[in-house]
Amino acid sequence: MKNTNSKSSQNGTQKNEKQNGVKAKPDAAEGLRKLFVDELKDIYWAEKALTKAIPKMIKNATAEELVEALTGHLEVTKEHVARLEKVFSSISEKAAAKKCEAMEGLMKEAEEIMQQTKKGMVRDAGIILAGQKVEHYEIATYGTLCTFAKTLDENDAASLLHETLEEEKEADAKLTQIAESFINAEAAR
Ligand SMILES: [Fe+2]
Repeated sequence: MKNTNSKSSQNGTQKNEKQNGVKAKPDAAEGLRKLFVDELKDIYWAEKALTKAIPKMIKNATAEELVEALTGHLEVTKEHVARLEKVFSSISEKAAAKKCEAMEGLMKEAEEIMQQTKKGMVRDAGIILAGQKVEHYEIATYGTLCTFAKTLDENDAASLLHETLEEEKEADAKLTQIAESFINAEAAR
């Protein structure tokens, strides 16, 4: 277990001081907070949907390294769902999901790739492609949400979101490594 506690906002007199030097004005802060919560609902939906989509990718993957990476990331994704619930509770909001059109599109694309390729190395390469698109979407989202949380002085939420951001980056790097070391070379044969 990593320590994600950051209690710097406990002291009321420190409430509006920002560690990153950016301070939202009251009106802007209200709008930003609404956007922050909406985007949390969006990524919460996306992570939950991924817990259903990744098993299909595992079934379609052939290379052992890819199956292992996806299986590992499925467990990590379940943790991301639970961690988002902690983020909601840290900002005193109820965890709620709102359909993420972008992630739905990415998952649809993944399905198409799996249908249109022959099982084996080429489909594996396609699964890596689809998986990296998903990771990049998540990296963009978590990176921005982390900045929003800091700006809103929600430091506990920021550190939880940062933890997930780092894990998404790891997953992306792992997929790149598999693609470079193995699958692309095999598919070209
Ligand atoms: Fe995730």
